[in-house]
Amino acid sequence: MGTKVTPYTQPENESKKKQVERMFDNIAHRYDFLNHFFSMGIDVLWRKKCVRILRKLKPQTVLDMATGTADFAIEIIRMGVDAKVTGVDLSAGMLEFGKGKIKARGYEDKIKLEQGDSENLPFKDGTFDAYTVAFGVRNFENLDKGLSEMHRVLKPGAVTLILEFSKPKAFPVKQLFGFYFKYIMPTIGNLLSKDSSAYTYLPESVTAFPEGEGFLAKMQTAGFENLKQRKLTGGIASIYLGYKKA
Ligand SMILES: C[S@@+](CC[C@H](N)C(=O)[O-])C[C@H]1O[C@@H](n2cnc3c(N)ncnc32)[C@H](O)[C@@H]1O
Repeated sequence: MGTKVTPYTQPENESKKKQVERMFDNIAHRYDFLNHFFSMGIDVLWRKKCVRILRKLKPQTVLDMATGTADFAIEIIRMGVDAKVTGVDLSAGMLEFGKGKIKARGYEDKIKLEQGDSENLPFKDGTFDAYTVAFGVRNFENLDKGLSEMHRVLKPGAVTLILEFSKPKAFPVKQLFGFYFKYIMPTIGNLLSKDSSAYTYLPESVTAFPEGEGFLAKMQTAGFENLKQRKLTGGIASIYLGYKKA
């Protein structure tokens, strides 16, 4: 924990942000397939669980950060949340695929995508009723800055809902998942995505991420209250919830 994990070793002076953008541009064409393949579809169930929580809160404006190919943004609308969703991502390549999916579903009046950086958002203070981010925070170069921007753009009383990998602690999920994540996924992922680093970076970035209590403490420092962690599938992933003070 605490060490900066980057997708590539070269060039040495390239920022994590630039590398993450480059990596997702490289794997965008395979991202959806590999995501669902490796998780055996469980990632879809995890997003649905998040949207069921969000739906009860009836947000009218949602910022879906690190939206990638827009799976989360699309699920929000598909599951009947009556909101305008803004999806933001660093990677133009990922957004391009997202735009195609939004068009194919006829959701263009509900979801708009734009390229941007979670650590420097082009929105005024107090713009959104909800902020969602799935499998994104672990990639932020400066997590504290990203959390403070998250807090800034939310309205008072608004919710943030974060879905991220966590580390299962119990036998045998810990051992099985550890082996799968560290050895099987990188081997197949590197072959199929043609990016020899992307699926090695994935387990490394999960290991380096301050999950659980450590992450909740960071959310609190950023100003969130009423914090909760809900573990999913034996702790492989977690939903973190927090609210901006009303
Ligand atoms: C693993 S993908 C997740 C995509 C999508 N949320 C999903 O559930 O499939 C992570 C995404 O985070 C984006 N990302 C990483 N750092 C970012 C940042 N600082 N600002 C905006 N997007 C970022 C990447 O470009 C990538 O598309």
